[in-house]
Amino acid sequence: MTTATGTLPRSASLIQDFLDVDRIRDDFPILHHPVRGGRALVYLDNAATTQKPRQVIDRIVRYYSEENSNVHRGVHYLSEVATDAYEKARTTVKRFIGASDEKEIVFTRGTTEGINLVAQSWGRKNVGAGDEILITAIEHHSNIVPWQLLCEEKGARLRVAPVNDSGELVLEEFARLLTPRTKLVAFGHASNALGTINPIRKMIGLAHAAGAVVLIDGAQGVPHLHIDVRDLDCDFYAFSGHKVYGPTGTGVLYGKEAILDAMPPWQGGGDMILSVSFEKTTYNALPYKFEAGTPNIEGVVGLAAALDYVSAIGIDAIATHEQDLLHYATKRLLAVEGVRIIGTAAEKASVISFVLEGVHPHDIGTILDQEGIAIRTGHHCAQPLMMRFNVPATARASFAMYNTREEADALIVGLQKVMELFR
Ligand code: ALA
Repeated sequence: MTTATGTLPRSASLIQDFLDVDRIRDDFPILHHPVRGGRALVYLDNAATTQKPRQVIDRIVRYYSEENSNVHRGVHYLSEVATDAYEKARTTVKRFIGASDEKEIVFTRGTTEGINLVAQSWGRKNVGAGDEILITAIEHHSNIVPWQLLCEEKGARLRVAPVNDSGELVLEEFARLLTPRTKLVAFGHASNALGTINPIRKMIGLAHAAGAVVLIDGAQGVPHLHIDVRDLDCDFYAFSGHKVYGPTGTGVLYGKEAILDAMPPWQGGGDMILSVSFEKTTYNALPYKFEAGTPNIEGVVGLAAALDYVSAIGIDAIATHEQDLLHYATKRLLAVEGVRIIGTAAEKASVISFVLEGVHPHDIGTILDQEGIAIRTGHHCAQPLMMRFNVPATARASFAMYNTREEADALIVGLQKVMELFR
């Protein structure tokens, strides 16, 4: 890895050798583009979006160079090729998350759209006055606001299960808040702001025992954890393509077939109908009933390439590497004077949120940026969670498969510079 000042020495790490991080880094062109006047990019904002390997970029170029057409509509050659690529991508997703059938895979714009789809379709049909929806205190705004909108419309109540000072769900409180009125329980697999990994298997079991339907916001789960929706037995699982090395504007809503089948369409338009007359419209079968309009074909094809890429490397190897980085960087951060880590759950994805005494997180982000280090600062679209920890914002470093211990070291050196400036 070359920096403005030379080449960083690489420490020997069995895990890095096992994962062959150097080869992985070679797949990501953007990691080799200098920023801020020739500095090597140290990209630690992976919870916001991951970078894309050339396998994904090349696949999109090939799609537009050789395959572009609309899907499900034409009888001509290119329409067949594009439809085939689009539907093969659905099979790739089905396998990747362990779904039973392609009908259970709905392509969306991202996690947010998947959750809104469930709130507006399943929710409007099944939630009424006096009913309750249970979420948790670590949720991203996209797993709060769609339920607030539904509750306002229906006269239902949004309940929130608390977290402890480490940012872990208080499971007894979660269980206590499940009542016969709870219609749906929605929670993140992992927190984007703190990294906390929820005990989702237990939560699903408790919610089902109470008769509630379960939706998992998997935006921060899929990039880091092995997912098997059948084994988990969740009813819905939503995730975004761009957080798992795929294109922006892509996502997946998994739903159990029987539940999706009983849901009314959400958006109306082309492709989601069987026949339309001014008197009556009949709807298409699953999953097309929920895919109105020309879809993001290039994005979906690129997403399949991203999932293939992750599968070829192995999600378990990726997780092991990321956990190594998480523990290494946490230890080094805690040694920096004035650092306080927000979110110290025993089970964490590779996300570290922190504050630095006497320095606003935005200043930390701006100064690190001058060194070529990209982190995120702010409330991370989780304002209620920030309030829970009495901070307006945090600085957040989040690691992906291509990050290295040397990049964690660069973050520490950068933070020491920040401290010197503010001393
Ligand atoms: N939800 C994204 C993040 O955590 C944007 O940064």
